[in-house]
Amino acid sequence: MKLGFIGTGALTSAIVTGLKSAADNSVPVVLSPRNEEIAAGLALRYPDVRVAPDNQAVLDSCDTIMLAVRPQIAHEVLAELRFRRDHHVVSLIATLSREEIATLIAPVEQVTKALPMPMIAHRQGATIICPPDRRMSAFFGRLGKVIEVEDPSEFDALSVVTATFASYFKYLDTIRGWLTEHGVADARAHDYIVTIFKALANAPETAPDTGFMDLAQHYATRGGLNEQILRELTARNVFDAFAESLDGVHRRIAAGAAPRIGPPS
Ligand SMILES: NC(=O)c1ccc[n+]([C@@H]2O[C@H](COP(=O)([O-])OP(=O)(O)OC[C@H]3O[C@@H](n4cnc5c(N)ncnc54)[C@H](OP(=O)(O)O)[C@@H]3O)[C@@H](O)[C@H]2O)c1
Repeated sequence: MKLGFIGTGALTSAIVTGLKSAADNSVPVVLSPRNEEIAAGLALRYPDVRVAPDNQAVLDSCDTIMLAVRPQIAHEVLAELRFRRDHHVVSLIATLSREEIATLIAPVEQVTKALPMPMIAHRQGATIICPPDRRMSAFFGRLGKVIEVEDPSEFDALSVVTATFASYFKYLDTIRGWLTEHGVADARAHDYIVTIFKALANAPETAPDTGFMDLAQHYATRGGLNEQILRELTARNVFDAFAESLDGVHRRIAAGAAPRIGPPS
């Protein structure tokens, strides 16, 4: 495989970093020149990563192409390029459907959608792939978990999960802020929360047959402190409001309107 990227931003940087930290990392990589600083930094760090003079040169020298530009400019960027029928194109552009991409990159026959997350840089997390694709499953499988789905609507639904990250950190920060208001030093509050939540995050893996609500019940002993918070938040419809937000994000993803998933680069 000779792997090219159109768009060298946060996600490309994460994939290349993850790839080049893996044991078997012999895949040569060609980057499009924008973002200049990120592309130059990656090429400097890894000997078999180079920056092409322009986007077309990436296509001309690679067999596998990852599309990693923002959706807003995808039409304009792709319309200018000449793809080959035998290119294997993997679109990382979360909000453009596979059909839409296939139209823009004709005559390419093999088009796959993939949704990796920035933690791929540390070879953690999971990449969703649609439709199932043996080559890409093997590629992303070296960089974390792979979930292959047949149905594009299932891909869209799974994508909604990635919109919950910021709220998760807000949840942790609410606890941290409360602790500091009650006399706990900021560093200690932060450290305690990080350690405890890391252990909690491991719980479903250590008990794979236990559902999330079983784990919740395990901690929410009757009349106990966990039960109090769960009951009070439930009574205030916090979880219903959260589910409504998931619906809203899903509508945006299905309509191709969500501008981006990850943090700003
Ligand atoms: N970041 C995530 O967590 C994440 C997760 C899943 C999917 N995605 C998808 O991945 C794609 C990239 O996201 P990102 O977060 O990596 O965005 P990003 O950091 O903004 O990267 C996009 C890159 O495209 C470059 N670019 C602009 N115009 C270009 C052109 N004409 N030709 C080639 N490259 C051009 C930009 O360069 P300049 O900086 O010079 O403008 C920028 O470096 C998006 O479609 C997003 O939906 C992102």
